[in-house]
Parts: sequence; C-alpha cells; structure tokens
Amino acid sequence: MIYSKILGTGAYLPEKILTNADMEKIVDTTHDWIVERTGIHQRHIAAEHETALTMAEKASRQAMTDAGITPAEIGMIIIATTTPEKMFPSTACLLQQRLGIAGCPAFDLNSTACAGFMYALSIADQYIKSGAIKSALVIGSEVMSRVVDWSDRTTCVLFGDGAGAVVIGASQEPGVLSTHLHADGTHKDVLSLPVSIGKPMDVEGALYIQMTGNQLFKLAVNILGDLFDETLKANGLKKSDINWLVPHQANIRIIQSMAKKLDLDMDQVAITLPDQGNTSSASIPLALDKAIRDGRIKRGDMLLLEGFGGGLAWGSALIKY
Ligand code: ACO
Repeated sequence: MIYSKILGTGAYLPEKILTNADMEKIVDTTHDWIVERTGIHQRHIAAEHETALTMAEKASRQAMTDAGITPAEIGMIIIATTTPEKMFPSTACLLQQRLGIAGCPAFDLNSTACAGFMYALSIADQYIKSGAIKSALVIGSEVMSRVVDWSDRTTCVLFGDGAGAVVIGASQEPGVLSTHLHADGTHKDVLSLPVSIGKPMDVEGALYIQMTGNQLFKLAVNILGDLFDETLKANGLKKSDINWLVPHQANIRIIQSMAKKLDLDMDQVAITLPDQGNTSSASIPLALDKAIRDGRIKRGDMLLLEGFGGGLAWGSALIKY
C-alpha cells in the first residue's frame, strides 16, 4: 500500500504586525473584547509588494529544504487561496514558473476558503496513493487583509496574512491515513466574498468578506463534532489514539470546544491564533509547521487536522506523522 507522508513543512509570515491596540485605533473595539471573544492578540499584515504568490514561494522553498527535495522532484503543486495573485493564470502556475519546473500539474483551489488546505491535501493524497505522482507541494497562502472591510469591526479584527506549505511524498510507511471532505451550499450566505466577475455588484460591500459570525460559530461546532466521529470511525480509532489536534484557527472558543470533544488537553492542540489571527487556508499548515519545528509534534504522533470555511465546506485528515 502506498501512503503519502509529510516530508517537510515551511511557513512565511509578513514582518508587519497589527496588535489589538492598533485595532483600537482603526475601529470601535477593545483588546479585551477581541481576546475574550476570539483569542486573538495580533495578526501579521502583508507589505504592499507581498502577495499570495510571494508568500507561497517563501513557504514552499522552506518546505522543500526541510523535506530535502529539489523543485525538480515535485510532482504536483496545489495552492489553496481565497486571495489569488490573479483569476488566472493560477498562483500555482506562477509559482511553478518561479521554481523553474514546467510540466507537473499546478492549480489553485480558490473557493473553499478556510477549508482550502484540507481539500488541497486530500486531492494531492489521492494522486500519491494511486501511484500517479510521487510527491506534491501543498500550500495555503492568503492576504486576507486585502479582502476585509477595515471599517467593519465584526470582521477586520479576525484575519491575518501568511503562508504555510507542506511537501508530501509516497511512502510504504503509514502517513495520511484518511481524508474526509464535505460541503453544504444551503449555508452559502453565512460566510462569503460575493464579488462577481463582469457583473454589477448586487451586494453592498461585495469586495469584502461578509460573515454572520455567531451563526457560523454554532454551525462549526456541530459539523466539526460529527467530522471527528466520522474520521475516527473510518480508521477504527478511539479519541485516546489522537496525540495532536491541528485545527483551522478561527476562534479559540471553537478550538477549545473541539479539544474537549476529543478529550484532549489544550497543550495537545497546535495553536497559532493568538499571534497570527485567522489566516484562512494558511492557518492549518502554519500551525502544523510551528508545532513540528519547535519539536512538540514528533515522528509517529497521530495528528487530526480539520478545517471549515465559506460554502460551507469542511474537511479533516488523520495523519501518522
Ligand atoms: N469589538 C467590539 N464589539 C464587537 C466587535 C468588535 N470587534 N465585533 C462585534 N462586536 C459586537 C457586536 O456588534 C455585538 O454587539 P450587540 O450585542 O450590541 O449587537 C456583540 O459584539 C456580540 O456580537 P456576536 O457576533 O454575537 O459575538 P460573538 O461572541 O459571536 O463573536 C465572532 C463574534 C468572534 C465573529 C464569533 O462569532 C466567531 O468567531 N465566529 C466564527 C467565525 C469563523 O469561524 N470564521 C471562520 C471561517 S473564516 C473563512 O472561511 C474565510
């Protein structure tokens, strides 16, 4: 049996930091409100010259170095991003050109929002498991600061910019054990970025993220609970078999309730939210990279990754690291 194994990870965060104290000067909010309701203390904001492409390149090069693999050995590039460089060519093709590796498939997943990394990882995993490719570069890269309305306190305090990358490669050793993807378009209006190409904007503020936060909060808690049950059942595992939860970083209260659901201590959860905010599809690979790099996640650990976002779309992966 062929598995895909995580061979290396990489991350990039822009230098500029916006603290909650800075946010207090931009909108009618307070540090205490943001921390209490979300767990966020600060977020990184891309400089003018930085884009989903430039950040993806930095994270990818680090991941390839970590994996000990050259660009020429990459068999597929998928970039999950809600904030692509252009509509097309894809950010993944632009990255491919920068890496000088024409030929392998390269594409973006633009529309699965914060669930994007789970979708991208699942697709790359299927190609590796089937024997079609031997390795893949899977990236989440976002400049969320360019799609939030900086006068809307209900959204602008939540998001940050950054990129995370993972190199996965074919292995006889267990790696990605299963992935589980879902979507439900009946919740289309709970979270959207409703800008339409070539059409008049029918929603006020359509260029910016629209979110009914409290509704999304409740939906997330329910769907993620069911997703964990499905993931464990598919692998015949118990909650106690999980060593690490690597969640999408949207809200500390959602993450705490997910840890509780899995009977995990919070020190078994990879968290970047306080320092990075919600970086959408970049948040899971960023959290994974941090916990691997600082030595908390070790080879052989059982990881449960989960993400959810606009669509609604959501997904999980169970991985023996
Ligand atoms: N500062 C101060 N007050 C605020 C702020 C702010 N930044 N934002 C909202 N408020 C106020 C509201 O106006 C409201 O005031 P009112 O009671 O006078 O009307 C009050 O705080 C409570 O608002 P709620 O929206 O009910 O607050 P809640 O506790 O639900 O927290 C939050 C809001 C943080 C957005 C939460 O609902 C949440 O995290 N939801 C999930 C978001 C999420 O998961 N996103 C992930 C997907 S992102 C993607 O896919 C791109």
